[in-house]
Amino acid sequence: MQVLITLILVLGFVSPCLCARWNLEETHDNNTFNVVQYGARGDGKSDDTQAFLTAWNNVCGAQGDATLVIPPNLLFLVNNLIFQGPCKASRITIQVYIWIQYINNLTLDGRNIGKIDGYGSTWWECKSCPRPRAIAIHACNDLFVTSMRVTDSAGGHISINGCKNATFSHLFVDAPGTSPNTDGFDISASQNILIKDSVISTGDDCIAVNGGSSYINATRLYCGPGHGISVGSLGRGRSYETVEEVHVYNCTFTNTTNGARIKTYPGGSGYARKITFEQINLINVTYPIIIDQHYGVKDETESAVRVSDVTYRGFNGTAFRDIAIKLLCSSLGCSNIVLDDIHIVSSRAGKRVGAFCQNLHGTIESTTPKVHC
Ligand SMILES: *[C@@H]1O[C@H](CO)[C@@H](O)[C@H](O)[C@H]1NC(C)=O
Ligand SMILES: *[C@@H]1O[C@H](CO)[C@@H](O)[C@H](O)[C@H]1NC(C)=O
Ligand SMILES: *[C@@H]1O[C@H](CO)[C@@H](O)[C@H](O)[C@H]1NC(C)=O
Ligand SMILES: *[C@@H]1O[C@H](CO)[C@@H](O)[C@H](O)[C@H]1NC(C)=O
Ligand SMILES: *[C@@H]1O[C@H](CO)[C@@H](O)[C@H](O)[C@H]1NC(C)=O
Ligand SMILES: *[C@@H]1O[C@H](CO)[C@@H](O)[C@H](O)[C@H]1NC(C)=O
Ligand SMILES: *[C@@H]1O[C@H](CO)[C@@H](O)[C@H](O)[C@H]1NC(C)=O
Repeated sequence: MQVLITLILVLGFVSPCLCARWNLEETHDNNTFNVVQYGARGDGKSDDTQAFLTAWNNVCGAQGDATLVIPPNLLFLVNNLIFQGPCKASRITIQVYIWIQYINNLTLDGRNIGKIDGYGSTWWECKSCPRPRAIAIHACNDLFVTSMRVTDSAGGHISINGCKNATFSHLFVDAPGTSPNTDGFDISASQNILIKDSVISTGDDCIAVNGGSSYINATRLYCGPGHGISVGSLGRGRSYETVEEVHVYNCTFTNTTNGARIKTYPGGSGYARKITFEQINLINVTYPIIIDQHYGVKDETESAVRVSDVTYRGFNGTAFRDIAIKLLCSSLGCSNIVLDDIHIVSSRAGKRVGAFCQNLHGTIESTTPKVHC
């Protein structure tokens, strides 16, 4: 079977924030190669594959560091595009936001690419700008992404929406801890997604698992700085949302504001269930274990996204704040929550940590600090 791969590279977001960044001066450096200079039209109709390949060959054959520039505000269509190495250039950067959609069976192997750089810092101060993601993947099945560095996205780094069976391995995702809303991975409406053997340092969630997602695994990840691995937030604007079968195994959180987090808005409906966080190492995490069913709003309401069948097992390490385990369920209650083999102490000398919980039902064994519900 012949598989046609269509990559749609888009930077069609009109934003005042970006203009300054993309002046042409910058693209006339010796080792900077702009696909437009090689004939790419970016009109959303022409096939720009040849121009991309020619630009790539120049980047690849350059001496020293080289950058491939795919400019904004244009829509490129490319087919069966493979950036082939090995390259002469010592380090290659691709300056681009990538949007991939409706593709089956695609492998993205970044070994020949130094990094995908969003150059997002100029966007970060602009709260009202619609910020693009460095890599947006929509409706792709059997996807394999490996060995890539994705850095300084304007918004979230990698978003996965409507995909089935995707594996991400050996990714290095990084942005400053102070950069706003720069999630590492945002997953929504997707099934059978595995993220493994990767390092994620950002200013927001390392991974956010959003509505419509199930069978999401994360393993052997180093997360931090950032906001931890989150299920949700779910139920915003009274919506019905579901997440189930999320398994986080053998991950390390360093200097994150949260570790294992589930967050739901009051007034929503649906469920977050069958979630496990196991073999978790904590280094100075502000809130290592947290369920927050009052996310965004303090008020109690008559409905909530139901949280059930959640297991936390094998947590070791240190917490920065006094409340290391914070389980705030709505008045409807969380059910079958299991805490087992948990040993969390303070990262501050001479301090103790405690736990706080509300409307929680389940079993708690071998857990320090003690949790009384
Ligand atoms: C996926 O790609 C592999 C390797 O190129 C090929 O052998 C396989 O048939 C493809 N599968 C589908 C469903 O297209
Ligand atoms: C999932 O995708 C991988 C390629 O990343 C492929 O090898 C595997 O067969 C796919 N599994 C299913 C169940 O389609
Ligand atoms: C995901 O995690 C679950 C629970 O640990 C495991 O049974 C399943 O095999 C994992 N799936 C993948 C694709 O790693
Ligand atoms: C956890 O992952 C590390 C690598 O990050 C590996 O060396 C270790 O064996 C794994 N431990 C478990 C219990 O799987
Ligand atoms: C945690 O953050 C503090 C303060 O920013 C920093 O000094 C420390 O090196 C970080 N720890 C690790 C292990 O990265
Ligand atoms: C956590 O610490 C306990 C006691 O120090 C140790 O027995 C256990 O193996 C550790 N678990 C992990 C996952 O590091
Ligand atoms: C722990 O985290 C806090 C808050 O992020 C930070 O201020 C402090 O420097 C960190 N401590 C260490 C020992 O890294």
